[in-house]
Order: sequence, then structure tokens, then C-alpha cells
Amino acid sequence: MSAANTNSQDASPRKAQGTRHERIPVHIFEDPAKVAQKVARCIAALIRAKAAEGKQTVLGLPTGSTPLGVYRELIRLHQDEGLDFSTVVTFNLDEYYPISPDSLQSYHRFIHENLLDHINVPPAQVHVMRGDLPPDMLDAFCVDYEAQIAAHGGLDLVLLGIGRSGHIGFNEPGSRRTTRTRAVILTELTRKDAASSFYGDTNVPRQAITIGVGTILNARTIILMATGEHKAGIIKRAVEGAITGEVVASFLQNHAHAAIYADRPAASALTREETPWLVRDPDWDYTMAKRAVLWLSENLGKALLRLEAADFHNNHLHTLVYAYPDIDALCLRVFDDLRRRIVYQDGLPKNERVVLFSPHPDDDVISMGGMLDKLVRNSNDIIVAYMTNGSVAVFDADVLRYLGFVEMSYREMGLSGDAMAQFRDRKKRIQRFLRSKRPGAMDLTEVQHLKANIRYSEAIAGIKVMGLSAEHARFLDLPFYQTGRIKKKPISQADIAIVLDLLHERRPHHIFVAGDLSDPHGTHRMCYVAVQSALAAYSDSAAVRPKVWLYRGAWQEWEIHKADVFMPISKTEMTRKIEAIFKHESQKDRAMFPGAHDEREFWQRARDRNTATATALNRLGLPEFYAAEAFVTSYTL
Ligand code: F6R
Repeated sequence: MSAANTNSQDASPRKAQGTRHERIPVHIFEDPAKVAQKVARCIAALIRAKAAEGKQTVLGLPTGSTPLGVYRELIRLHQDEGLDFSTVVTFNLDEYYPISPDSLQSYHRFIHENLLDHINVPPAQVHVMRGDLPPDMLDAFCVDYEAQIAAHGGLDLVLLGIGRSGHIGFNEPGSRRTTRTRAVILTELTRKDAASSFYGDTNVPRQAITIGVGTILNARTIILMATGEHKAGIIKRAVEGAITGEVVASFLQNHAHAAIYADRPAASALTREETPWLVRDPDWDYTMAKRAVLWLSENLGKALLRLEAADFHNNHLHTLVYAYPDIDALCLRVFDDLRRRIVYQDGLPKNERVVLFSPHPDDDVISMGGMLDKLVRNSNDIIVAYMTNGSVAVFDADVLRYLGFVEMSYREMGLSGDAMAQFRDRKKRIQRFLRSKRPGAMDLTEVQHLKANIRYSEAIAGIKVMGLSAEHARFLDLPFYQTGRIKKKPISQADIAIVLDLLHERRPHHIFVAGDLSDPHGTHRMCYVAVQSALAAYSDSAAVRPKVWLYRGAWQEWEIHKADVFMPISKTEMTRKIEAIFKHESQKDRAMFPGAHDEREFWQRARDRNTATATALNRLGLPEFYAAEAFVTSYTL
């Protein structure tokens, strides 16, 4: 069997777990690490098999957040298991344009820092695009890039991520399937998604160079990876939707050896994941039955207790009726189940020790401001632990404004002499630095600290609205975040030790943790891992294991079928929550990382999300609340 075939077995449609809905084989894994391990193993097998035949392996390589785990695993295979890359030829898929190769965001720099500097691909076999070419040399460069791929016999394997626009490489919507390496204009969505790496969307280049759709489709094997809930919608369109240039990844449907490797959140909108009963006859345990009943009720716009057997029969749920012949009893059970999950202030913790872990300064009030408010009123002993300082999300202009304010205040208070002179000197230095700073460049340490202080003061102002004070805030400043860059370090023992110390000190009865495991920047996920690891160590030594409450970050809410607790919020409480969110001024009006294509401010998202939960409950036939926050308490961290 040839090397390409060895690998393509994994990408073969015959091996897919999918259904008639899925037109690209999709392999689903529980978490991004498992996706990375599997894909790295496929690549390693291909390299070894081709090397055994005395042949080179030609790889097309993406950048971005998705392939990082694969690159880490390939480096590990090289270092620990002697995987030899000397027969490998690499072609990067794309590059921003214009961009200098040494800038923090350049894909040239990325692929070296994250892969090539740590393995033994001979430099002459590395091909990266040049973002610093003069415009009149671009066309010739692109033609030559194609020629070099062809000279190597085409790509054996191309690894892809997918943009939320459906792009592969930087082939944006509208790209034809025959396109070749060329310069392209980036869409607004792609630029917004890249905003966090460039410290604001206005700094993202408008153009890019990318290999073409045709170049990708000519590859012998294609592996597209997707991780995180934010990719779920586009994965569904690529896999189950029509083949169209509007979703370029859908062209993979026609490739004989293309496959998708996704984690469960990225696959969650596929029919087999979202509504399994439409695909096969599922195991109708109560959890599945509950999901189906809720789905039916929501889809028909009919309250739970008004559903009747015919509704099930007419909507692909006849097998559920066979499993639960007393359908009224099932609907009542689901109704009662949800009703019991509605918890009013009286049912919440009272006079207990609580630690609220907030990944950034503002997640506490955005995501669970209503809960925090009630926990304070229930006389709990609360610490809000801000895990990172959020400094990268503060605009330079705000630093200058605050420095101006401090100077005015010093003058007002009659401060003069050496201290004042020293302050003015440092202020000037910072002004000079910020004025000459290249967009997207790293801040001076002093500026990073000032930005952190801005966020700290906002966090304290936020919890003051809830009746807490500065003593209730703890700024953990976890080391993994302290890179001054968007890219963070992996979670280490140092991070875990800080969280563990806090657990030992506080011995909380309850901890609240951001449970969105697939947030766009990964910080929430890393904070979750830090708490999870600390808790594992803590449980060994502690008499009382705290109850863990998972809340969701600014990007989404728990689905009704997953939430364990719905906590109603009145209009007055929502107003207080919004007032607390307002205190995060540096994130108001125009946040640096607002999340693509969502022009709403954080307070608007929080309000919309909480009122949407209340409306959904009401449509199911439960009481009508103004708003509600949702929590999961049944996961074991
Ligand atoms: C980057 C590339 C892009 C990315 C896509 C997803 O080289 O080709 O298509 O793969 O934009 O980016 P992440 O992985 O950052 O979500």
C-alpha cells in the first residue's frame, strides 16, 4: 500500500461515522488535544511511509490557533520518538499582505516559532510566502510558488483550518474552485477574527496571499481541523450544505480523500450531534428523551404540557413514543425537571464561603452579575478571583488619558518637587513610546502594568455596585498570561499553585468557574484547566470539596437542556448588573476584542442572552421572568 493510501484510509468516506447528511467524512474527538494527537499521528505515518519508499513528503501547512496542538505534538514526536523531518518539504498556505516577516502576526514568523525551529526540515525545503514584497512582484511570486509546488509533484497532504467565513487558506467566499496562488482581499469577518492578534481590527491588513482552492483540491489528502463552538455553524454548512463558492470549504465534498477532524463543540451543529434522532434511532435514555422533547416543543412553538403523541409521530420522534408510551408522563417529567431547576434567591447559598473565578476582569459581572448580586445579599463570604489582568485589551489612548488625569490630580493636590518631576519624565517616556509604537507591537512592561491597573480599578468599581469592596477582589495575575502578547504560555505548575493556594486559604463551599471551553481566545479554557488541576490536587487534601458552578463567558449561554440551574433576574437586578458592567469602561463602546460580527456591547449581549433564556423557558410553558442566568453544576471538573 502506498504512503498516500495508508494515510488516506483515515480520510476515506467509507470510514466516516457520518450520515446521509454529511458529505465530508467527519471524525469527532472529545477535545482539541485528541484531535491534535490523531492528526499528528496521521502526518507522522505519512512521512515515515513515504521515507521508507525513498520519497519526500510535501505538506501544505496552515497557521492560526487550530494547528498549534498538532505542531506541538509533531515537535514532541521529533524530540521524543525521533520522527525525522529531513524528507519533508513544506509550503505555507498563506500570509497577510503587506506584513514584515518579523512582525508578531506574520505567518512566516509563526511557522518558524511554532514548528520549523524545533524540527529538522532542511531550510531549502521550506517555502513560506513573502508579505514584504513590492506590489509589482506579487504576481510573479505567486506563479513561482505554484510552479514550486508542481515541481515537487504537488501536495501530498494539506492541513487546513477553517475560517468562520468558510475560508480555507485565505480563499474567501466567492473564490472559485479552480483558483491558484494569488493575492486576495480579506473579508470583514476574517479581519475581525484576526483583530485579537493585531490588537484591534483596524490594524489587520486588508489583503493576503493564499494558495488557491484548486491548489488545495489537487492535494492527494486533505485534513481540515476545527475546534471550538465558534466553528460549529460553518462546519455544518461546509459538511451538510450545498457545494458553493460562498462556503469555500464545501468544495471538499468533491474530494475523494478529504476528511474533517473536529472536537465535539465544533461538530455540535451537525445533524447527528444536534438532533441525533433525525439520523438514527438513539438510545432513548432520559437525557436524550429530554433533549428531544425540548427540541420538539421549541420547534413547534408549543408549550411542553400541550404536546401530544401526534406531534411526536409527525416529527420523526415515533421511536420515542415507542420507548415512552405514556408521552404525557414524559412531558410532565421534563416540565417538572425544568421547574425544579429554577432557583430563587432563597435556594441559593447563604452564609457560606464562595470563590468566583473570573478569567478576565469583567467576566464576573457580564456572565454572572445577577448571581453575584444575590450571593452578596445572602451574606456569603465572597472572593472574586481575577485570573488574568486583561491588559492586552486596553487601548493605548486610555493609558494616556489616565496619565493625564493623574497629572491633573497631582497638581490639584499640590504635589510638586522631585516626585512630580519624576512622574512627568516617566509620562513623557510612555507618551513617546506609545506614539511611535507600531500597530500590534508589544507594550513596555510599565505600560502593561498601567493597563492592568486600569482593568483592576474597573473590576473593583464593578463589584462595588454589588455591595462588595476592594478586599473582596483578588488579582491572581496567572503567569501563563504574562507574555504581553496575544499568544499565551501553556498552563504550568506555577499557575496551578496560585489557584491551589487560594483554595487552601479560603476553603470555599462553592466555586464559580467559566465553563466555556471553546472561547475564541483560549484564555477561558486555560483558566478552566488551571482551576481543574488545582482542584484535583486540593481534593486530595481537603475535607470538603467545593460545589462547582460553571457559568458561560460573554460569547454564549448554556442550552436549556444542559443547564442545571436557572436563576431568574428581575428588571431592577438586571439594571444593577448592567451598571456593574458599565464600570468596565475600557471595554465599553468599542472593545478591542468584541468578537466578530457582533456590534453589541458586552452589557447588551448580557441583557439579550439573559432575556433570551427567560423567553425560552416561558415558551416551554414555565413562568415568565424578566431574565435568567444559567449554570451547570453537574460536571465533575
Ligand atoms: C491560516 C489559514 C486560515 C486559518 C483559519 C482558521 O494559515 O489558512 O484558513 O486556518 O482562518 O484560523 P484559526 O485556526 O485561528 O481559527
